[in-house]
Amino acid sequence: MSTENVRVGIVGCGNIADNHYQAYQQIHGVDIVAVCDVDLDRARAFAAERCIPHAVASVAELVELDLNAISVCTPHPTHEAVVTAAARAKVNVLCEKPIAADVAAAERMVAAAREAGITLGVVFQRRYWPSMQRLRRAIDDGRFGLPMLAHCQVLLHRGSEYYGAAPWRGTWVADGGGVLMTQAIHNIDLLQWFLGDPVEVSAKAGTFVHRGIIEVEDTAAALVTFASGAIATVTATVAARPNLGTRLTVTSDRGATVVLTEYPEGADALEEVWTVRGEQALTPSLAGALQPDMPVSEVNARLLRLHRRHVADFIDALRTGREPFVTGEEALKSLRIVQAVYQSTRTGLPVAIGECSVNPAFRHLDAAAQETLA
Ligand SMILES: NC(=O)c1ccc[n+]([C@@H]2O[C@H](COP(=O)([O-])OP(=O)(O)OC[C@H]3O[C@@H](n4cnc5c(N)ncnc54)[C@H](O)[C@@H]3O)[C@@H](O)[C@H]2O)c1
Repeated sequence: MSTENVRVGIVGCGNIADNHYQAYQQIHGVDIVAVCDVDLDRARAFAAERCIPHAVASVAELVELDLNAISVCTPHPTHEAVVTAAARAKVNVLCEKPIAADVAAAERMVAAAREAGITLGVVFQRRYWPSMQRLRRAIDDGRFGLPMLAHCQVLLHRGSEYYGAAPWRGTWVADGGGVLMTQAIHNIDLLQWFLGDPVEVSAKAGTFVHRGIIEVEDTAAALVTFASGAIATVTATVAARPNLGTRLTVTSDRGATVVLTEYPEGADALEEVWTVRGEQALTPSLAGALQPDMPVSEVNARLLRLHRRHVADFIDALRTGREPFVTGEEALKSLRIVQAVYQSTRTGLPVAIGECSVNPAFRHLDAAAQETLA
């Protein structure tokens, strides 16, 4: 890429778009040229408030503006169309998680990016927490040992105000999934980042508390096995009240255990337990009064610091020609686990990773699938 300023656009002007805007704004030599939203009034208002020169209603118009890169901040099932349109126009992409709501779609996106020679990065900003990076380093340099057992626990709260705020939320067709696809995918990404390639999933998911409000799962439990032989459990809900945040526990073949706790949601994950030899420490992270449930906008604001690092990495990757921190291929791994949970729920059987490339919710959306999935 030349030494000229990097010209960027943002697609989707909803909740998370401002994190991308603020993150780009802090980088020297980046110009935020345009925003795009199918709701043109929303795009215009977003642009006007931030003095962004252009607001358009389609990606086709956006890519006419001689951009180097776009951020994709639209609902999950729309990511594919936006990313492939950008790839055709040779515009690099930083896409919000999950990469797509369907493995087959995500694979097409990765292939389109590769064929076009563009950079495709995906946002999994929780990887930037210092505690997560510390564990990754401890695994890489051999101090931790080989992860063999893990538990990923997601005890969040989302209520009717959250699902009511955007019509796409909580539907199979427009959201592609529930707590796993939208919230726990962050934690599942971290799980696979530490444990490596997943190979098989057995799971159950269902709608236990938000029946009548959402059709996707609000609660799920899964057993995941990995190519290394490691095993992990995942439990996740958006029906915990109050919200108790998330926790990732990893134990190695040497007996070292770390427990990394995000509480309240969006706050830096703390090393609640860290028993790597010679570095033992306990931190009572849940001590004190329970925090009241906070609006998602506050969670996103807490995560801004991490979005800044992710966006800075993406821009640096464009400038230097290296791969971004989280590539499209890497982002596919957590989606494969989530989709295997849906398939295992549907069949009642273990699912080999890769066995199911189409989200069962999309393949059917018929009465039988809805009965088992909802
Ligand atoms: N990394 C994180 O922590 C984080 C946090 C929140 C949301 N997200 C992700 O960001 C994405 C957006 O979530 P949100 O909460 O901001 O959603 P939102 O509903 O608040 O905003 C989405 C916007 O996209 C627009 N839109 C829909 N289809 C479009 C299209 N084809 N082209 C252009 N605009 C379109 C909608 O009109 C809306 O304004 C989702 O994939 C979500 O998972 C990530």
